Amino acid sequence: MNSPTPPTGTRKVLVTGGGSGIGLAVCEALLAAGGSVVAVGRRAGLLEGLAARFPGRAHALRRDLADARARDGLAAEAARLLGGLDGFVHSAGNVVHQPPGHITEEALRSQLELNLVAPLRLGEQALALLEPGGGMVFISSTLAHKPVPTSAAYSAAKAGLLQVMKTLALAGAPRQLRANAVLPGVVDTDMVRAPRLQLGEKALSPDEAEARVEAQLAGLAALHPLGLGQPAHVAEAAVHLLGAPWTTGAEYVVDGGMLL
Ligand SMILES: NC(=O)c1ccc[n+]([C@@H]2O[C@H](COP(=O)([O-])OP(=O)(O)OC[C@H]3O[C@@H](n4cnc5c(N)ncnc54)[C@H](OP(=O)(O)O)[C@@H]3O)[C@@H](O)[C@H]2O)c1
Repeated sequence: MNSPTPPTGTRKVLVTGGGSGIGLAVCEALLAAGGSVVAVGRRAGLLEGLAARFPGRAHALRRDLADARARDGLAAEAARLLGGLDGFVHSAGNVVHQPPGHITEEALRSQLELNLVAPLRLGEQALALLEPGGGMVFISSTLAHKPVPTSAAYSAAKAGLLQVMKTLALAGAPRQLRANAVLPGVVDTDMVRAPRLQLGEKALSPDEAEARVEAQLAGLAALHPLGLGQPAHVAEAAVHLLGAPWTTGAEYVVDGGMLL
């Protein structure tokens, strides 16, 4: 028996941040369902590892998405590699925890660029290229609605991203294009395994870093009634939204009950 055709939106998909964490889990879920992907990031080894596991169906594109010139023509390049484009997922992102009064210019600009400007620009590209019925999914965060004292820049960017998503949903609707967002709680990826420094701390020894990460993860897990999330939990939601034909402009919270 032939396997069913994957829904429009999940067949030929550009995935930023596709080399690790949530983006990698999205690529793996799409590939398992019979789709093809172009995975984008800076670390060539991770992207090429994925491409080698799925020859001909997973493609690697190395780009620094914080660089406007490196974003130029990205969706067209993905469409060329895939023979068209019906889906776009923006999972690339970065977070730098700093309290007000200690937010560096570099951290502020880089978080706005990667978490807000890049998805806006790439969403515009996708809007022009996606096949009718296609979908976009933006990985936002529960921190868009419920900040912590160190998340001003990240929360602002991820909240702004929701308005970008809703604008793209309106603009795409006449061509049956959809745009949605997933708002994860804390998911066990490299992003939350980076030790957070206290004010005045410059560096930690390897033992201190390990202890800090363990304490960090335990503290974060305690905020979630269902415990920390795994990348596959978020990927499942993203793939659903990519292929959901009458869902657009939605904020899909996947947070193990954290916002309750
Ligand atoms: N983990 C969580 O608790 C959590 C919660 C809510 C939302 N999110 C969001 O989920 C998304 C994925 O994060 P994750 O948790 O899966 O962590 P992750 O594994 O660190 O993923 C971040 C991805 O972004 C890519 N990236 C970072 N800077 C880039 C740049 N300048 N150009 C191109 N790619 C870049 C990274 O690849 P390279 O380093 O190779 O470039 C990496 O693959 C992010 O948008 C994050 O804000 C995460």
